[in-house]
Amino acid sequence: MQGKSADVVGTEVKIRWLLRSDLPTVLDIESRVWDRPWDENDFLSVMAYRNCIGVVAESGDRVLGFMLYELHKNSFRIVNMAVDPQAWRHGIGRALVDGLINRLSMTRRYEVWLTLRESNVPAQLFFSACGLLATIVIRDHYEDPVEDGYLMSFCLS
Ligand SMILES: CC(C)(COP(=O)(O)OP(=O)(O)OC[C@H]1O[C@@H](n2cnc3c(N)ncnc32)[C@H](O)[C@@H]1OP(=O)(O)O)[C@@H](O)C(=O)NCCC(=O)NCCS
Repeated sequence: MQGKSADVVGTEVKIRWLLRSDLPTVLDIESRVWDRPWDENDFLSVMAYRNCIGVVAESGDRVLGFMLYELHKNSFRIVNMAVDPQAWRHGIGRALVDGLINRLSMTRRYEVWLTLRESNVPAQLFFSACGLLATIVIRDHYEDPVEDGYLMSFCLS
C-alpha cells in the first residue's frame, strides 16, 4: 500500500533548490508515478530554459518530492511535480505548492497555474485541496492518448 502506511516522512519537510545530484532520485520518483515518465534528457532540456526552476522537498535528508515551474511575468506555471508514492498523503505535495504560492507576492506575481489531464482526478483533487480552481477546459490539449486538459489556477485576491 502506498501513502499513509509509509514511515519515510520525518516531522520537518524542507523545500530547497533542485541540484544536478538530485536527478537520479527525481528520475526514480518520476518513473514510479507515470506510465510514460520523462527521461533524463526531458528533465535537462526543460531545466535548461532560463525561466525554469526546480525545487525538491526533503525530509530527514531524503528527497521525497520535486516540482519544476516556469517564471512568467505575472505567474508561476507548474510544469511537472511528483511525490514518492511511499510518502503520499503526508503533506509533501502541499508543502511544495504552498512554497510556490508563498513566493507570489514577494516576486510581485499573482497566479500559480498548470494544466492537468482530465483523467488525472487524484491530482485535480490534490490541487483543489491546495486552493487551485479548475477554470478552463482545453479540448484535446494532450496527445498520446488525446485528452482534454483542465487549466487549474490559484490567484491572489
Ligand atoms: C498529486 C501528488 C503530487 C500529491 O502529493 P501528496 O504529497 O500525496 O499530497 P498531500 O499529502 O500534500 O495532499 C494534500 C491534500 O490533497 C488531497 N489529496 C492528495 N492526494 C489525493 C488523492 N489521491 N485523492 C484525493 N485527494 C488527494 C487531500 O485533501 C490531501 O489532504 P489529506 O491527506 O489531509 O486528506 C501525488 O499524488 C503525485 O505525485 N501524483 C502523481 C504525479 C502527479 O499527478 N502530479 C501532478 C501533475 S504534474
